[in-house]
Amino acid sequence: MRAVVRRAYGGPDVLRMEDVPTPVVGDRDVLVRVHAAACNAGDWHLLRGTPLPFRLIEGLFKPKHSIIGTDIAGRVEAVGPAVTQFRVGDDVFGELARCGFGGYAEYVAAPETNLAPKPANVTVEEAAGLPTSGMTALQGLRKGRIQAGQRVLINGASGGVGLLAVQIAKSFSTDVTAVCSARNVETMHAIGADHVVDYNREDFADGKNVYDLILAANGDRSIWDYKRALAPRGAYVMSGGSNRQLTQAILLGPFLSWGGQTFGNLLMTPKQRDLMFLKDLVEAGKVKPVIDRRFALADVPEAIRYVEAGHAGGKVVITVCADGAQT
Ligand SMILES: NC(=O)c1ccc[n+]([C@@H]2O[C@H](COP(=O)([O-])OP(=O)(O)OC[C@H]3O[C@@H](n4cnc5c(N)ncnc54)[C@H](OP(=O)(O)O)[C@@H]3O)[C@@H](O)[C@H]2O)c1
Repeated sequence: MRAVVRRAYGGPDVLRMEDVPTPVVGDRDVLVRVHAAACNAGDWHLLRGTPLPFRLIEGLFKPKHSIIGTDIAGRVEAVGPAVTQFRVGDDVFGELARCGFGGYAEYVAAPETNLAPKPANVTVEEAAGLPTSGMTALQGLRKGRIQAGQRVLINGASGGVGLLAVQIAKSFSTDVTAVCSARNVETMHAIGADHVVDYNREDFADGKNVYDLILAANGDRSIWDYKRALAPRGAYVMSGGSNRQLTQAILLGPFLSWGGQTFGNLLMTPKQRDLMFLKDLVEAGKVKPVIDRRFALADVPEAIRYVEAGHAGGKVVITVCADGAQT
């Protein structure tokens, strides 16, 4: 099969298209013909081996995994003897970070619990854009104890995580404020945001409004700004963004949580039941993945470069098999 392979840490230039053996399915594995994959910020961290704690898991000097790629959608080609949930021919989507990655390839073998049936009403490319971003958005909002009627603010609302967070928050019947730059304001209204703050013209932390739940999906604001924008018993959850945003949430969050407000951070944990929850939301028409750009498998380096630049307005997807993209 064709796969995008790396042998060392480095920028996107270390990636090469190669012919490699098709994976062999283990007892509980499903072999998926990958029709589409999606890029995530995690790809370039994994590729470069930065920040350094990544290397404690992925290998200090040489990366363990030669084929990266975390999110996929495609068709089941073979199943191991102990697989009970899927049959050959089923359309699936899934997340591969805890089972060896391998999404930037024509085939991948994954445990059945890493997969779920593909939502029937979206393309394979849209389905591939759901797992990492969707589970991060969902788990971040749940960690903030999302409830109907709350005022929810999503910073970094125009990225892969943010666009899904806005829609998932709306599905909980909340009043959603999306923070993005001017070029994404229309998209925010189109996906259902109640209010949109253009971060170059307005400041969500100017004290005029407060929020019951703030999800920092991206951005670079001080934790004190978030504190000012939080209601007295509000919850702040940081799932992504600048190093400052990350370190302040980790180091200061526990101390600031002694009053009525809570400050936490989220490291997404892949769960099959969350994939199923996302599938149901998509099929109910409550969530629609937004695709920014499509690239061919050979152009994975360019796709990762684009994501690393930090201005994608939605998911960046890789069309691996053009036929599959029609289903
Ligand atoms: N915690 C976890 O387990 C987990 C899981 C997945 C991702 N993440 C992290 O979550 C973050 C976001 O991921 P993503 O996939 O959504 O990234 P992304 O799609 O690359 O985000 C890009 C978007 O962020 C917006 N943005 C950039 N700077 C901003 C700022 N200062 N304020 C508001 N918006 C800003 C950009 O819009 P403009 O260019 O118009 O500003 C762009 O639309 C990344 O840091 C990623 O590493 C964490």
